[in-house]
Amino acid sequence: MAILTIILLVSTAFALGDTMIRPKTPCEVARDAVPHGLVGAYIPTCDAAGQYTPEQCWGSTGYCWCVNSSGQKIPGTETPPGTARIICSTQNGMIRPKTPCEIARENALKNVRPGVYVPTCDNDGQYKPEQCSGSTGYCWCVNSSGQKIPGTESPPGTVRINCSTKWK
Ligand SMILES: *[C@@H]1O[C@H](CO)[C@@H](O)[C@H](O)[C@H]1NC(C)=O
Ligand SMILES: *[C@@H]1O[C@H](CO)[C@@H](O)[C@H](O)[C@H]1NC(C)=O
Ligand SMILES: *[C@@H]1O[C@H](CO)[C@@H](O)[C@H](O)[C@H]1NC(C)=O
Repeated sequence: MAILTIILLVSTAFALGDTMIRPKTPCEVARDAVPHGLVGAYIPTCDAAGQYTPEQCWGSTGYCWCVNSSGQKIPGTETPPGTARIICSTQNGMIRPKTPCEIARENALKNVRPGVYVPTCDNDGQYKPEQCSGSTGYCWCVNSSGQKIPGTESPPGTVRINCSTKWK
């Protein structure tokens, strides 16, 4: 009986992660608190280190959203089932939804072939003011939506327009 109690205590208070016994993280505590077989419950997803994965989904409703490291939903990140899947990205320890530039870049990289232009994003995920096509060598300036600003394109080998000063 005493041994059983100890085993029970150990299994509820500790988790086996990376071959180390460590105390359960808040994510694991929350996850393991959901009774087995409870239909329709939201069960947090934790990574191997016991941290909340940036993307959380509620299986029974199909909703997904991004959370911060405390597991709190980041406002505006919830997507209903059947809509474009949410992509949560980590940056400087902060979790935020991927930006249009990052999504466009990812899609372009999935489909690399000659002539496909891969957008360049800054650290905040915004379009860099100057975009270049690796395959053609052309560069041009874009506005914050990533749209080419007419008249800014320069062919390879020519003097490039300074996109940061002129078109900001
Ligand atoms: C997570 O979000 C909640 C609610 O917005 C906030 O109170 C908490 O401080 C955040 N935690 C971190 C680690 O950013
Ligand atoms: C960027 O340029 C496009 C095309 O000219 C325009 O439709 C869009 O509104 C511009 N976006 C911003 C944020 O200026
Ligand atoms: C563009 O102009 C800014 C401000 O004058 C300067 O700091 C930057 O180095 C220039 N960039 C290029 C590529 O010349």
